[in-house]
Amino acid sequence: MRQHKVIIAALLLGISAAGGWCVRGAAASASGQAAVAEIPVPPPPMGWSSWNSFSNEIDSNIAMAQAKAMVSTGMKARGYQYVNIDEGWWLGERDAQGNIVVDPAQWPALEPGERAGDMANIVKFIHSLGLKAGIYTDAGEAGCSFYGPDLGPPKPHTGSEAHYEQDFLQFAKWGFDYVKVDWCGGHGENLDPALQYGQVARAIRRAEALTGHRLFFSICDWGVNSPWTWAPGIGGVTADIWRTSGDIVAPIVANSPNANRQASFPGMLGNFDKGIHPEAQHTGFYNDPDMMVLGMPALSDAENRVHMTLWAISGAPLLVGADLTTLSPASLSTLTNPEVLAVDQDPLGLQCAKVSDASGLQVWSKRLAQLGRTDSRRAVVLLNRTASAAPVTVRWSDLGLDSDSATVRDLWRRQDLGTPANSFSATVPATDALMLLVTGHEQPGVRYPAADGVQGTPAVSSAFCTEKEKSWVFHGVQSAGSNAWIQIAYENPQDSPSFAEFRTNGELETLIAFPSTGKGRMGSITIAAALKHRSQGNDLTLLAAGGGSLTVDSITVIPGSK
Ligand code: GLA
Repeated sequence: MRQHKVIIAALLLGISAAGGWCVRGAAASASGQAAVAEIPVPPPPMGWSSWNSFSNEIDSNIAMAQAKAMVSTGMKARGYQYVNIDEGWWLGERDAQGNIVVDPAQWPALEPGERAGDMANIVKFIHSLGLKAGIYTDAGEAGCSFYGPDLGPPKPHTGSEAHYEQDFLQFAKWGFDYVKVDWCGGHGENLDPALQYGQVARAIRRAEALTGHRLFFSICDWGVNSPWTWAPGIGGVTADIWRTSGDIVAPIVANSPNANRQASFPGMLGNFDKGIHPEAQHTGFYNDPDMMVLGMPALSDAENRVHMTLWAISGAPLLVGADLTTLSPASLSTLTNPEVLAVDQDPLGLQCAKVSDASGLQVWSKRLAQLGRTDSRRAVVLLNRTASAAPVTVRWSDLGLDSDSATVRDLWRRQDLGTPANSFSATVPATDALMLLVTGHEQPGVRYPAADGVQGTPAVSSAFCTEKEKSWVFHGVQSAGSNAWIQIAYENPQDSPSFAEFRTNGELETLIAFPSTGKGRMGSITIAAALKHRSQGNDLTLLAAGGGSLTVDSITVIPGSK
C-alpha cells in the first residue's frame, strides 16, 4: 500500500520509473565531521490560524485585528508571519463562470478604490504589515461546513473539487501565500487522498507558474492513508506540511454555544505522539500535529510550556490557534522564547525521535544543524508523563554522542547547566518537561562514496544512463542502531530544488528535495532512516526524479542511539 501510494505521487510529479540504472559501487570509510557545508532547508511555517478561536465566523475585521496583534505583540519580530483564514470565509457560491463569490459585507473594501467582496483587499492589508496571508478550501465538492458545521446551518458546495485549477489560480491572483486543503468532502465522497492531493499540488504548481506567486501547501487529511508516506514533495511541491491526526479540540468561541469547550493536555499529548514520523520529515517537508491550543482556555501556563516544548522539538508548524489580541504575558513569552523557536526552525529541518521510555519517563532527541561548528548539537526533552515527580536521565550514547563530557543548557531558563560526562539527570515534575541543548562530540560516521567500480561492484557504463534515470546505489550500508542519520553530499547547480527518491533494500521510503548548492559547490542535507538489516548491511538507492541536474557525491551514515 505504502509503495503504491508513493508511486502514485511520483507519477503525479512526472517521475519516470527506473527504466535504466546508473549503478555505482560504494566503499565505506570512517569519517569524522561533515566535509561539506550543510544546506539550510525551508523551515516549518509559523503564524496564526482563525479556526480554533473563531470557528466559521472569520471576517475581515477579525483577520485585520489578528494581523495587527501579530506585529504589536512582538510575535512578528520572532518569526511568526502567516495570518491564515480557515473555514467560513465563503459560503459555497460561484458565478456563471465558476468563480468563487464572497460576501461583500464579510470582506469589504479596505482602501479607496477597492471593490467589496474581493479577497485581494485583506491580502493587501496583511502584506502591508510585512506578513503573509493564508486561505483554506476542501479537496471535495463540499467542505466541513456542509458535513458538520461547527456553528450555523450546513453550507453546501464549499469545496474545490472540479475547480482545482480555477480556485488555486484565483488564490494566487488574490495574492495569498499559503493554502490549507481540508478533507471533509474527500472523506465524504470516499476519494483517495494521495491521488486527490497530487492533483491539488499540480494545480498549485500551475498557479505558481502562471502568476510567479508562491503558495505554500498545507494538507489536512488528519493522517488518513498515512500521508507521511506520500505527502513529502507531492506533485513536485518544494515544501509542504501534512496533518497527522484530528483536531486537538473543536473551536472554542466566546459568546457562542461552544464557549465552554476545553482543550485538554492529554489531547495535546496524543496529537504529539501521532505526529512522530521522523523518516518523512526532511528537506522542507513536515508532519503537522495541528494548530496549537497554547493560550486558549484550559491549559495551565506550565502545560502550555510543555505544549510548546513538544511542538518545537518535533519541528512542527507553529500555527497559533488562540486569539492573539488577548494572549496573557505568560503565553506570549512561551510563544516567543528565541532559543526554543530556534529548535523548531533549525535549518536541518529534522524531527525528534524517542530515544528512551521508562514507563512514561521519556527522552526525545532532535539532531540540530552544526552550522560550521565542529561540535554536534541535539535538542533534548526530558518528558515526565506520570502523575508524580521523577528523575529522568539522558545518556550521551542515547544521542549518538561520545561518552566524554557534553555541555548542557536549559533552553526555557536560558541557563548553562555544566558539562557532565556520560549523562545528565534531573527531577522533572509530574506531567512536565525539561528542554535542553546538548553539545558534544559525535560518534564517527561512515562515509560511502558514490565512486565507480570499487569493492568488486561492477560499474555500469554511463551510456546506460539518461538524465532522468540517474541513480546512486550504496551496498552493504551498516547501522549500529535502529536510528541513523544519513548525510548526503551532493551538488545541485540549478536555482530550484532537484528531487530524488530514497529507497532502502528496494522499498521506496520517501522523496527528498535537494536545495540549490550553487554551481560548482557541494553541500549536504540530512535525513533520518531506520536501517532494518544489522548484520548483512542495507542497500540504499537515490534515484533522481523529475529531471533536474542532481549529482550525488557520497553518503555518511551517522549512528543515532546505540
Ligand atoms: C477540519 C480541520 C480543522 C479545520 C476545520 C474547519 O476539522 O481539521 O483544522 O480546518 O476542519 O471546518
